[in-house]
Amino acid sequence: MSEIAIIGGTGLTSLNGLQIKRKRMVPTPWGEPSGPVTYGELFGNQVVFLARHGYQHTIPPHKVNYRANLWALKQIGVEKIVAVAAVGGIHPELGPGSLAIPDQIIDYTWSRGHTYFEHDLTSVTHVDFTHPYSETLRDGLIRAAQRAGVVVRAGGTYGATQGPRLETAAEIERMERDGCDLVGMTGMPEAALARELGLQYAACAVVANWAAGKAMGAIDMDQLAETLSGGMEQVRRLLEQAIPAI
Ligand code: HPA
Repeated sequence: MSEIAIIGGTGLTSLNGLQIKRKRMVPTPWGEPSGPVTYGELFGNQVVFLARHGYQHTIPPHKVNYRANLWALKQIGVEKIVAVAAVGGIHPELGPGSLAIPDQIIDYTWSRGHTYFEHDLTSVTHVDFTHPYSETLRDGLIRAAQRAGVVVRAGGTYGATQGPRLETAAEIERMERDGCDLVGMTGMPEAALARELGLQYAACAVVANWAAGKAMGAIDMDQLAETLSGGMEQVRRLLEQAIPAI
């Protein structure tokens, strides 16, 4: 059994180099995960993989059953999760094609199933979320990037938006004033649910485009997809070093 899971986002619905052993649909009290969990071997290590948006990339960010996804991973014995996510770059040093291992989150999402603590409670439960990502896992990813010769920004605040539309330029300006360096649609409630389940969780963000208003003109979706596929190659190199180490 593998204790490490990779959740793949846009641009990573399958993992190159993953030798698939089996797939299993894991039922949960929260409904169906985005798809069957894939058990496999990546560079000689056991890992499990789950495509956040489904293996055909059909589930939009606000419809992902985050509760079921994380519950399923916990259920099968996963302890550590590396979440890969496409983002827009807000910080001047986070242009298209760059990678970041964020260390903070601001949540702008709404109306998503965002907690396990809402039914049949014997008492109200709160979890500490001061540092939303596992420092140990982040450290492992940053060191792995150095070994792989992949440039990553070690830190940054991830602003999670509702989607599926991209943001307005004014929304991005506000997010920048708030202190966001990156903008994505899936970082929450995923990170918080991982914390509620006691799972170690860190994210590897791949910048697909300048966030709205940060470059001339509209965001070009074809360009975004092309940048993302180059970025995912870097992620694969990073994971090759990271998986055995973490
Ligand atoms: N905004 C939100 N999510 C994203 C973006 C963006 O600009 N690019 C990729 N995912």
